[in-house]
Amino acid sequence: MLFPIKSYFNFLWHSTNEHGVHSPFVFNLLTKCFYDKKPKPEYQILKNYRKSLLENKNFIEVTDFGVGSKVFKSNRRQISKIASTAGISPKRAELLFRVTNYFQPKNILEIGTSLGLATSALALGNTKAKVITLEGCPQTADQCQLQLQKFNLDNVDSVVTEFDSYLQDIKLRLKTETENFDLIYFDGNHSKKATLAYFELLLPTINNDSVWIFDDIHWSPEMEQAWEIIKNHPKVKVTIDTFQWGFVFFRYEQEKEHFVIRA
Ligand SMILES: C[S@@+](CC[C@H](N)C(=O)[O-])C[C@H]1O[C@@H](n2cnc3c(N)ncnc32)[C@H](O)[C@@H]1O
Repeated sequence: MLFPIKSYFNFLWHSTNEHGVHSPFVFNLLTKCFYDKKPKPEYQILKNYRKSLLENKNFIEVTDFGVGSKVFKSNRRQISKIASTAGISPKRAELLFRVTNYFQPKNILEIGTSLGLATSALALGNTKAKVITLEGCPQTADQCQLQLQKFNLDNVDSVVTEFDSYLQDIKLRLKTETENFDLIYFDGNHSKKATLAYFELLLPTINNDSVWIFDDIHWSPEMEQAWEIIKNHPKVKVTIDTFQWGFVFFRYEQEKEHFVIRA
């Protein structure tokens, strides 16, 4: 329990805002996207999407994956409880919407759907994009699909799969064809081993403008180690640590530089 608190104080000590940033690419991202306070009509859709899940008192049988839940003891779980504990926060969903809207990625991959609270932000951020979202639990994925239909978010392809098997399939496909993701949101298995394995498996899908977002980079000492390894990878050029999220950019023309930013 002490670890995230210590880690947060360390983050605050090192963090800055746009005033400490000289890179035009990062400065623009902060001022035009991260710190954009203007209201957006899509925020109301995100709110309604969440509200309808929070009002859903039905139970589903959840298949547990990854590092396990710190909140639930049983696998029979109420939808409203999953929505209130497992998904992206309202503020983060708005930021994810803005980031997607700012970069206008065409092909988006989300690793870890749950009930689609982040998926809806990705789908609304660029309605012309194709969003592929991966979830291993069939009943959770079913609920998410119903929810996406209810809100007419028809640019989402929801895939029920164990992450590793889907990513291994991509690796096989890449032998004969190209596959690019312009934005990837990693929010599934928050372990060092899985994070680094997914990082390596997906590296062949990058292009110059790819944006990768890793959730919970300070969740545990192991996740912080994974984040350090990712930052030091030779293909990684710019990173932004916002405490909750680690942003990774591969821009070939850019000097390697790491930012710690209060978002
Ligand atoms: C933190 S939740 C995703 C939250 C979602 N992105 C949001 O913000 O609403 C992670 C999800 O990934 C799924 N998951 C975890 N490890 C998995 C694995 N190895 N394969 C498939 N699904 C997995 C879990 O079932 C869970 O629903």
